[in-house]
Amino acid sequence: MAITFDDEKKIFLLHTPHSTYVIRIFEGRVLHGGWVKRIKNYSGACAMPLIDRAFAAVPEDLHGKCDFSPDTVQWEYPVALRGDTRSPAIEVIGNGGTVECELLYEAHRIYKGKKALVGLPATYTNTDDEADTLEIDLYDPNSALKVTLFYTVWNTLDVICRHSVLKNSAKDVLDVRSAMSASVDFPHARFSMLQLSGAHARERHVIMRELVPGMQKVESRRTASSHQQNPFIALVEQGATETHGDVFGFNLVYSGNFTAQTEVDQYGVSRVQLGINPFNFSWKLAEGESFTTPETVMVYSQNGLGEMSRIYHDLYRSNLCRGEWRDKVRPIVINNWEATYFNFNSEKLFALADTAAAEGIELFVLDDGWFGKRNNDWTSLGDWDVFTEKLPNGLSEISEGIHARGMLFGLWFEPEMISPDSNLYRAHPDWCLHCTERSRTLGRHQLVLDMSRKDVVDYLFEKLSAVLSSCKIDYVKWDFNRSPSDVGSALLPVEKQQEVSHRFYLGLYDLLERLNKKFPHILFESCSGGGGRFDPAMLYYMPQTWTSDNTDGLSRLAIQEGTSIAYPASAMSCHVSAVPNHQVGRVTSLSLRGHVAMAGTFGYELDLNKLSDLEKAEIKEQVAWYKDIRHTAEFGDLYRLRSPRSCTAFSESPLFAWESVEKDKSKAVVTAVWSFSEANESYDILKLEGLDENANYKIKSLAGLSIKMLVRQFFPSAPDSEFCVVADDTVISGEELMNIGLCIINRTNYGGSLHFKLERV
Ligand code: DGJ
Repeated sequence: MAITFDDEKKIFLLHTPHSTYVIRIFEGRVLHGGWVKRIKNYSGACAMPLIDRAFAAVPEDLHGKCDFSPDTVQWEYPVALRGDTRSPAIEVIGNGGTVECELLYEAHRIYKGKKALVGLPATYTNTDDEADTLEIDLYDPNSALKVTLFYTVWNTLDVICRHSVLKNSAKDVLDVRSAMSASVDFPHARFSMLQLSGAHARERHVIMRELVPGMQKVESRRTASSHQQNPFIALVEQGATETHGDVFGFNLVYSGNFTAQTEVDQYGVSRVQLGINPFNFSWKLAEGESFTTPETVMVYSQNGLGEMSRIYHDLYRSNLCRGEWRDKVRPIVINNWEATYFNFNSEKLFALADTAAAEGIELFVLDDGWFGKRNNDWTSLGDWDVFTEKLPNGLSEISEGIHARGMLFGLWFEPEMISPDSNLYRAHPDWCLHCTERSRTLGRHQLVLDMSRKDVVDYLFEKLSAVLSSCKIDYVKWDFNRSPSDVGSALLPVEKQQEVSHRFYLGLYDLLERLNKKFPHILFESCSGGGGRFDPAMLYYMPQTWTSDNTDGLSRLAIQEGTSIAYPASAMSCHVSAVPNHQVGRVTSLSLRGHVAMAGTFGYELDLNKLSDLEKAEIKEQVAWYKDIRHTAEFGDLYRLRSPRSCTAFSESPLFAWESVEKDKSKAVVTAVWSFSEANESYDILKLEGLDENANYKIKSLAGLSIKMLVRQFFPSAPDSEFCVVADDTVISGEELMNIGLCIINRTNYGGSLHFKLERV
């Protein structure tokens, strides 16, 4: 058992392979005892002492009897107004009218495996041997509130998953104002907090800030996990790097309003908390009812950020994502959005499909504009019937035509939305989120459906099921282009209006669960104006997410790097698009765009028929290459070899480099991209990681035909080997590649990027 309980000392030890998490019970209070590198024999002698601090408030039953200051000890689930003035994990208003509460130990259970969370996505075990779970029951002696804390401890991964369940055990209605999923008190503040922040089209940039006294937090109040802040933070010990040092990661499995915060108190204790954002939240618990918080996935790495990310990737690939596509390599996509936008008909689509099929592309995705009267974004969301003026022979003609060309067929939806100019809105003007009496707020000319209503969710299930059953559809892109603002529901009474933002997600998760079950063969891809809902909860229903609307090869570097901090490559959808790039206007080589997009599930999003023969030949080469390397790229262990953030010497160039290595170390792929060029640049030494030091590897590179042709215009006799780090087919030992490293240089006039594979020989 990874979890033990010492009845005499009243200490729980939760062991992951390399960490130990300590919980202790003191006078009925459940205290935190540390989360540290694994300890075999724990005495508790080094625990933070329980001293009587001057001016601290102490509950009467302990006052004068022992040294105990609630304001200064480490808690597992801190309460409010009982002496601890830091951020509480729970605020519930009972009969007394305040958020005062005391949570005392009542009982506990330890068992193998993990239970599902009611109505919420969460990590799961494939067999009970993968994890053990501890449940601790707490009660408030003065109210009806009972709380159970859940800890699932993984046996082969340094992961602890936490959530809590609140229950009302008596007649009074409890008003839950806040209930965190996890709260962890670290005894010091010698950390930086890493967050993934940005905006639409520049999501999830890595930001680090040193902890200082007071509150530092990221949050979303957008009723969506958001482009702006991701529900992820990490505490990175001072001096820790990509490969060294202690790192503690925290990721909330939730798509709605969240808070992820660290409060440093007067004595330097750092309290990390993640949960539903208390902003505009309240939940009325009647007698016998329960409220389940979303899950927080906590990861410990003793070897820096890289190892933390690989742990998240392993867990999410095998114990969060589900369904038939979970372990399968993903089809290469052609998406018509940036090729045609709304302006298409069946001839145009088939012309694009003909070229895509000839290139070896495997999945054709028909994006926005196929339904209602949708020629622009002012109309028709909600009317999920084919736009017969555009596609007179319906979706079946398109689906059959695409399948006849040997490709899978995918379709775009934005189910949670409704256009004021739609039959659905005309029939049901109260089906959108709105606050009664007030005018409605529009985003991208659209309103948001009230997913807290069962009738709306049922309607969507029937409507989408009808379309998905009407012809062969293999893939769905599920978009969500605006975040809700008028978060109110016509069906709920006034006192329950602050439940709407959470109920919205319970409704969405229910819909997705039903569709997953009914259409198990469909590969679902989540999207939210790009990466506005790139969170673990969406990955539970849809194993991949459109990473960003920004498809520029260079902009994508920081976006994909930040995304990879928590999320695996198999979840990151990446496309090659046209130049000048539609979002930033930049021109980069087709080679570079291909190299960068191969960091995730791969595809194209441009009019292939506007390309030259040379470019088409290069795409054919990229497609064939990706098919060969995709298992390694999507399911291998990721090593972020170089981030411009880690440039320390002036001689180092602005180089991004990453490597993916098969679990059995038989293959690896390496990408190096220079974000700009300098004259007369120095060399970079790229030391690889994760290879078998006793094996030899044969190297092969994908230089890109267009780059070769360009260079040959000026240097007609340039040999192919000029485009490689070392000549193709050279055999190099794993230890040489890892200890000496490859000596590379940016030949920007060749394209500014390198991509090569290594195969064990
Ligand atoms: C936003 C998405 O991110 C795009 O890829 C595209 O599907 C548009 N929405 C369509 O409206």
